Amino acid sequence: MDALLIEGGRPLRGSVEVRGAKNAALPMMAASLLLGEGKLVLRRVPNLSDIKTMAQVLQGLGVKVERRGDEMTLQVVSDSVCRAPYELVSKMRASVCVLGPLVGKRRRAEVSMPGGCAIGDRPIDLHLKGLSALGASVAVDRGYVVASARRLQGNSMYLGGPFGSTVTGTENVMMAAVLAAGTTVIEGAAIEPEVQECARLLVRMGARIDGIGSPRLTIRGVKRLHGCAFDIIPDRIEAGTLMAAAALTGGDVSIERCDPGHLMCVTECMRQAGAHVETGPDWIRVIGNGMFRPVSLATLPYPGFPTDMQAQFMALMTRGEGISILTERIYPERFGHVPELGRMGANIRREGPSAIVIGAPELTGAPVMASDLRAAAGLLVAALAARGETLLQRIYHLDRGYDQIEKRLAALGARIRRVDQQPQGVLREAV
Ligand code: EPZ
Repeated sequence: MDALLIEGGRPLRGSVEVRGAKNAALPMMAASLLLGEGKLVLRRVPNLSDIKTMAQVLQGLGVKVERRGDEMTLQVVSDSVCRAPYELVSKMRASVCVLGPLVGKRRRAEVSMPGGCAIGDRPIDLHLKGLSALGASVAVDRGYVVASARRLQGNSMYLGGPFGSTVTGTENVMMAAVLAAGTTVIEGAAIEPEVQECARLLVRMGARIDGIGSPRLTIRGVKRLHGCAFDIIPDRIEAGTLMAAAALTGGDVSIERCDPGHLMCVTECMRQAGAHVETGPDWIRVIGNGMFRPVSLATLPYPGFPTDMQAQFMALMTRGEGISILTERIYPERFGHVPELGRMGANIRREGPSAIVIGAPELTGAPVMASDLRAAAGLLVAALAARGETLLQRIYHLDRGYDQIEKRLAALGARIRRVDQQPQGVLREAV
């Protein structure tokens, strides 16, 4: 199994380009199921294991998927299969994004119910509520969500839940509604940039959607959608992770081809912590001194502080000169990185949905294990700054969201390499 061996304590310096956003690409790929004729061409698609899983799900549903460099072409060649199997959906929850397009276009969907998740409970009740409001009959049968309808019928609905809006839930219901008869109003829609871009893609394909970027989406159903070419936005979480790594290592890094407008809250919190952050139209430069003022924050839906940056920011706060409190308002259990940061010498106490971080002058390298994608990112940031060697294990989590991260960090001066960890702990060079 692959692991990363990191010799920490070296300031990152130089410039690095951000890839396209995974969480924008995944629902957009699912939108290909809505095509009547023509092809959907997506540009700047990141090369990640989650993207490969979505391609497999779509191929199983009769979509031809071709990839050339960072361009992906998708075309429906058969619409007879409506079932997304457990084997694939259990690998990646975002496969649930095929539910809305399938029921909207093919009028039937059988999608394995996503199971347990390392970051806590992740129900899909709001997705199902939205589809029911559009007239689909929805049931759970032997582990599968089975949704069927004649033609979906537009309706008004409130889609907020106990933790606020839902990103993939909004995308799913919006993708179902674009081919429904009549008008749909989604109140309490998520406004994350990835949701906005999904809506813009649908409009480019011929859908009629008003209110993009606001919590009230109005969707007037059309009969069919057509192909188009579309550029995927930069990955704001990858950019934020690189910002944290630059700051904590006391480096000086220019993060290129990103959208600083998507990272206002993260930038603000980093500045409060004492990092020097400059921004331009499509770049962010971060200069850190390795020590920080403590900053307390709560994760919130966009434009608040993203839950997907909580672990990386916590790594920063382990070096804060005082106490900071980080509260999870999206996934109250998303703290798998806390005990592992503890192995690196961090002093963090959990209290319900909060982590109380007592800053210390330094972290030390240790063998640690990733429990999910962003926990892995947080541990990676910590390891880059820690004194001595860290073995970051279970990096298949990291590979879901960061393309060749070790090569790009090495180009910034990090001492990092991918190794193959054999059963007895023996490390070999990864091929
Ligand atoms: C998306 O997940 C992202 N995934 C996640 O990124 C991200 O952490 C999350 O949004 C929050 O920003 C993709 O875009 C593919 P939600 P999603 O529905 O859509 C509750 C990463 O690391 N909820 O917006 O599944 C839910 O439990 C991943 O890249 C319900 O109660 O998240 C949570 O508390 C991990 N009922 C809150 O809403 C529902 O039906 C927000 O979840 C749906 C969600």
